[in-house]
Amino acid sequence: MANAIHVLGFSGSLRRGSYNTALLRAAAELLPEGMTLETFDLAPIPLYNEDVRAVGYPEPVQEFRKRIATADALLIATPEYNYSIPGVLKNALDWASRLPNPPLWGKPVAIMGASDGMFGTVRAQMQLRQVCVTTNMLPINKPEVLVARAQDKFDANGRLTDETTRKFLRELLEALAVWTRRLQGRSPASLSSVWEKI
Ligand SMILES: Cc1cc2nc3c(=O)[nH]c(=O)nc-3n(C[C@H](O)[C@H](O)[C@H](O)COP(=O)(O)O)c2cc1C
Repeated sequence: MANAIHVLGFSGSLRRGSYNTALLRAAAELLPEGMTLETFDLAPIPLYNEDVRAVGYPEPVQEFRKRIATADALLIATPEYNYSIPGVLKNALDWASRLPNPPLWGKPVAIMGASDGMFGTVRAQMQLRQVCVTTNMLPINKPEVLVARAQDKFDANGRLTDETTRKFLRELLEALAVWTRRLQGRSPASLSSVWEKI
């Protein structure tokens, strides 16, 4: 069997009872064979400040960047805040986007999101895809995991109980495995040399 695919997952919500963090926990239950998932808590990441960056990345940011760099792929669970991604998530991605060797560059990524509204984070996910363009993350297009009315799909313990959503989530993870394998033929060194030129 090919080497395992190591996925780093993070949620754009810091809320204890977060549906998006619960979606990551559900993903951990549904991993296809040959895939592992570790998660990163964005809470310790400070607000982006270019003056701070110029002196040196703060320790939690260094750790975040290192964990992204060593992962084969990313799994991002985003809430929708005012039709966009939460500041917590954007802030973390901003730190990870900066030189040298921006770790997001060329990284396969799967996107999902849960909302208590009717649209299941579709607008936030489109905005996250826009961020993927400038950071050169390489997102999967399909399937889209849009969990609308999340309060009906998780039980009181935060377990994803909705079978249709579990099926889509499983398909997303399978698609991430295929996508990551397809991209693994490309050397990170050649990708960073492209970055140096732009
Ligand atoms: C500041 C703020 C803005 C929100 N804006 C939206 C929105 O635009 N669309 C939506 O579907 N839900 C919106 N919500 C509701 C969130 O979808 C809901 O709180 C969800 O549970 C957040 O994700 P979490 O459970 O992972 O924390 C908003 C919530 C907050 C706190």
